[in-house]
Amino acid sequence: MRRAMPIALVVGAIACAACGGEAPPSRSATSDAAAAAPPYKAVSDMRTLMNAVIERPANVVWESVGEVHTPSGIEARSPKTPEEWQTVRDAAVTLTEAANLLMMPGRAWDSGEWMGAAAGLIVEGERMIDAIDRKSTQEVFDVGADLYEACVRCHRQYLPGVSEMYK
Ligand code: HEC
Repeated sequence: MRRAMPIALVVGAIACAACGGEAPPSRSATSDAAAAAPPYKAVSDMRTLMNAVIERPANVVWESVGEVHTPSGIEARSPKTPEEWQTVRDAAVTLTEAANLLMMPGRAWDSGEWMGAAAGLIVEGERMIDAIDRKSTQEVFDVGADLYEACVRCHRQYLPGVSEMYK
Protein backbone atom coordinates (compact mmCIF):
# COMPACT_ATOMS: atom_id res chain seq x y z
CA MET A 1 0.00 0.00 0.00
CA ARG A 2 2.25 2.74 -1.23
CA ARG A 3 -0.62 5.21 -0.95
CA ALA A 4 -1.46 4.57 2.70
CA MET A 5 0.80 7.27 4.08
CA PRO A 6 -0.34 10.20 1.89
CA ILE A 7 -3.99 9.36 2.57
CA ALA A 8 -3.31 9.36 6.31
CA LEU A 9 -1.69 12.78 5.96
CA VAL A 10 -4.64 14.16 4.04
CA VAL A 11 -7.08 12.84 6.64
CA GLY A 12 -4.94 14.44 9.32
CA ALA A 13 -5.03 17.77 7.53
CA ILE A 14 -8.81 17.66 7.21
CA ALA A 15 -9.17 16.79 10.88
CA CYS A 16 -6.95 19.75 11.70
CA ALA A 17 -8.97 22.09 9.49
CA ALA A 18 -11.95 21.22 11.67
CA CYS A 19 -10.12 21.83 14.89
CA GLY A 20 -10.58 25.60 14.86
CA GLY A 21 -7.03 26.87 14.84
CA GLU A 22 -5.84 24.94 17.85
CA ALA A 23 -2.66 22.96 17.58
CA PRO A 24 -3.51 19.55 16.20
CA PRO A 25 -2.94 16.85 18.78
CA SER A 26 -0.61 14.96 16.49
CA ARG A 27 2.83 13.73 17.32
CA SER A 28 4.45 15.63 14.45
CA ALA A 29 3.12 18.97 15.66
CA THR A 30 4.19 18.54 19.26
CA SER A 31 7.57 17.04 18.51
CA ASP A 32 8.56 19.52 15.81
CA ALA A 33 8.29 23.01 17.21
CA ALA A 34 10.20 24.41 14.23
CA ALA A 35 7.33 23.44 11.94
CA ALA A 36 5.04 25.82 13.81
CA ALA A 37 7.32 28.78 13.14
CA PRO A 38 9.16 28.48 9.84
CA PRO A 39 12.29 30.63 9.86
CA TYR A 40 10.95 33.15 7.34
CA LYS A 41 13.07 36.21 6.76
CA ALA A 42 11.64 39.19 4.93
CA VAL A 43 14.70 40.10 2.87
CA SER A 44 13.36 43.09 0.99
CA ASP A 45 11.05 45.95 1.84
CA MET A 46 7.60 46.18 0.27
CA ARG A 47 8.67 48.51 -2.55
CA THR A 48 11.55 46.28 -3.59
CA LEU A 49 9.31 43.23 -3.46
CA MET A 50 6.65 44.97 -5.56
CA ASN A 51 9.14 46.00 -8.21
CA ALA A 52 11.27 42.85 -8.34
CA VAL A 53 8.86 39.94 -8.07
CA ILE A 54 5.44 41.42 -8.75
CA GLU A 55 5.51 44.28 -11.21
CA ARG A 56 8.38 43.06 -13.37
CA PRO A 57 6.85 39.65 -14.05
CA ALA A 58 3.38 41.21 -14.36
CA ASN A 59 4.74 43.40 -17.15
CA VAL A 60 6.15 40.36 -18.93
CA VAL A 61 2.65 38.85 -18.86
CA TRP A 62 0.77 42.04 -19.81
CA GLU A 63 3.17 42.94 -22.59
CA SER A 64 3.09 39.47 -24.12
CA VAL A 65 -0.32 40.08 -25.69
CA GLY A 66 -2.34 42.96 -27.12
CA GLU A 67 -1.87 45.29 -30.04
CA VAL A 68 1.20 47.30 -30.87
CA HIS A 69 1.02 50.22 -33.22
CA THR A 70 4.01 50.17 -35.55
CA PRO A 71 4.85 52.37 -38.55
CA SER A 72 3.65 49.53 -40.78
CA GLY A 73 0.31 49.15 -39.04
CA ILE A 74 -1.20 47.39 -36.05
CA GLU A 75 0.51 44.25 -34.97
CA ALA A 76 -1.26 41.68 -32.78
CA ARG A 77 1.22 40.58 -30.19
CA SER A 78 1.34 37.01 -28.88
CA PRO A 79 3.94 34.56 -27.62
CA LYS A 80 4.90 32.38 -30.58
CA THR A 81 7.45 29.76 -29.69
CA PRO A 82 7.27 27.26 -26.79
CA GLU A 83 10.14 29.19 -25.21
CA GLU A 84 8.19 32.45 -25.38
CA TRP A 85 5.16 30.82 -23.77
CA GLN A 86 7.42 29.36 -21.09
CA THR A 87 8.86 32.80 -20.32
CA VAL A 88 5.36 34.21 -19.88
CA ARG A 89 4.29 31.23 -17.77
CA ASP A 90 7.35 31.54 -15.52
CA ALA A 91 6.50 35.22 -15.00
CA ALA A 92 2.90 34.35 -14.08
CA VAL A 93 4.11 31.69 -11.63
CA THR A 94 6.58 34.14 -10.08
CA LEU A 95 4.05 36.85 -9.39
CA THR A 96 1.42 34.37 -8.19
CA GLU A 97 3.80 32.77 -5.72
CA ALA A 98 5.00 36.24 -4.72
CA ALA A 99 1.50 36.89 -3.42
CA ASN A 100 2.31 34.31 -0.76
CA LEU A 101 5.31 36.44 0.23
CA LEU A 102 2.92 39.34 0.81
CA MET A 103 1.20 37.23 3.49
CA MET A 104 4.38 36.43 5.40
CA PRO A 105 4.43 37.12 9.11
CA GLY A 106 6.24 40.39 9.59
CA ARG A 107 5.38 41.60 6.13
CA ALA A 108 1.58 41.53 5.90
CA TRP A 109 0.18 44.92 6.84
CA ASP A 110 -2.79 43.33 8.62
CA SER A 111 -4.53 39.99 8.91
CA GLY A 112 -7.82 41.03 7.29
CA GLU A 113 -8.28 42.95 4.05
CA TRP A 114 -4.58 42.63 3.25
CA MET A 115 -4.79 38.84 3.24
CA GLY A 116 -7.94 39.02 1.11
CA ALA A 117 -6.20 41.24 -1.43
CA ALA A 118 -3.12 38.99 -1.55
CA ALA A 119 -5.36 35.93 -1.93
CA GLY A 120 -7.16 37.74 -4.74
CA LEU A 121 -3.86 38.10 -6.54
CA ILE A 122 -3.35 34.34 -6.26
CA VAL A 123 -6.81 33.69 -7.71
CA GLU A 124 -6.08 35.82 -10.79
CA GLY A 125 -2.54 34.50 -11.04
CA GLU A 126 -3.80 30.93 -11.19
CA ARG A 127 -6.38 31.88 -13.81
CA MET A 128 -3.56 33.45 -15.78
CA ILE A 129 -1.42 30.32 -15.56
CA ASP A 130 -4.39 28.28 -16.85
CA ALA A 131 -4.93 30.69 -19.73
CA ILE A 132 -1.24 30.46 -20.62
CA ASP A 133 -1.41 26.67 -20.48
CA ARG A 134 -4.26 26.85 -22.97
CA LYS A 135 -2.09 29.15 -25.09
CA SER A 136 -5.10 31.40 -25.46
CA THR A 137 -3.90 34.86 -26.36
CA GLN A 138 -7.40 36.30 -25.92
CA GLU A 139 -7.77 34.77 -22.48
CA VAL A 140 -4.35 36.01 -21.39
CA PHE A 141 -5.47 39.48 -22.48
CA ASP A 142 -8.82 39.26 -20.68
CA VAL A 143 -7.45 37.75 -17.46
CA GLY A 144 -4.73 40.40 -17.62
CA ALA A 145 -7.38 43.02 -16.92
CA ASP A 146 -8.60 41.06 -13.89
CA LEU A 147 -5.03 40.66 -12.70
CA TYR A 148 -4.61 44.40 -12.91
CA GLU A 149 -7.76 44.85 -10.85
CA ALA A 150 -6.27 42.58 -8.17
CA CYS A 151 -3.32 44.99 -7.90
CA VAL A 152 -5.56 48.03 -7.78
CA ARG A 153 -7.80 46.49 -5.12
CA CYS A 154 -4.90 46.45 -2.66
CA HIS A 155 -3.38 49.75 -3.74
CA ARG A 156 -6.76 51.48 -3.48
CA GLN A 157 -7.10 50.25 0.07
CA TYR A 158 -3.59 50.90 1.30
CA LEU A 159 -2.24 53.60 -1.00
CA PRO A 160 -5.12 55.97 -1.64
CA GLY A 161 -4.14 58.52 -4.23
CA VAL A 162 -1.57 56.42 -6.01
CA SER A 163 -3.69 53.46 -7.04
CA GLU A 164 -3.18 54.14 -10.73
CA MET A 165 0.51 54.91 -10.40
CA TYR A 166 1.88 52.36 -12.81
CA LYS A 167 -0.89 52.20 -15.36
C1 HEC B 1 -1.82 42.89 -0.81
C2 HEC B 1 -1.54 44.22 -1.29
C3 HEC B 1 -0.91 44.48 -2.60
C4 HEC B 1 -1.13 43.84 -3.80
C5 HEC B 1 -2.08 42.69 -4.09
C6 HEC B 1 -0.31 44.51 -4.78
N1 HEC B 1 0.39 45.51 -4.20
FE1 HEC B 1 1.71 46.73 -5.12
N2 HEC B 1 2.00 47.76 -3.39
C7 HEC B 1 1.43 47.45 -2.18
C8 HEC B 1 1.92 48.36 -1.17
C9 HEC B 1 1.53 48.36 0.29
C10 HEC B 1 2.79 49.25 -1.81
C11 HEC B 1 3.56 50.43 -1.20
C12 HEC B 1 4.89 50.00 -0.68
C13 HEC B 1 5.63 51.15 -0.02
O1 HEC B 1 5.75 52.22 -0.66
O2 HEC B 1 6.09 50.96 1.08
C14 HEC B 1 2.82 48.83 -3.22
C15 HEC B 1 3.58 49.46 -4.18
C16 HEC B 1 3.67 49.05 -5.48
C17 HEC B 1 4.51 49.68 -6.47
C18 HEC B 1 5.39 50.91 -6.25
C19 HEC B 1 6.78 50.49 -5.87
C20 HEC B 1 7.69 51.71 -5.70
O3 HEC B 1 8.80 51.67 -6.22
O4 HEC B 1 7.26 52.65 -5.06
C21 HEC B 1 4.32 49.01 -7.65
C22 HEC B 1 4.99 49.27 -8.98
C23 HEC B 1 3.38 47.93 -7.39
N3 HEC B 1 3.00 48.00 -6.07
C24 HEC B 1 2.95 47.03 -8.33
C25 HEC B 1 1.99 46.05 -8.09
C26 HEC B 1 1.43 45.19 -9.10
C27 HEC B 1 1.82 45.22 -10.55
C28 HEC B 1 0.54 44.37 -8.47
C29 HEC B 1 -0.34 43.31 -9.08
C30 HEC B 1 0.21 42.40 -10.04
C31 HEC B 1 0.52 44.75 -7.07
N4 HEC B 1 1.41 45.76 -6.88
C32 HEC B 1 -0.27 44.14 -6.11
C33 HEC B 1 0.53 46.43 -1.94
C34 HEC B 1 0.05 45.55 -2.88
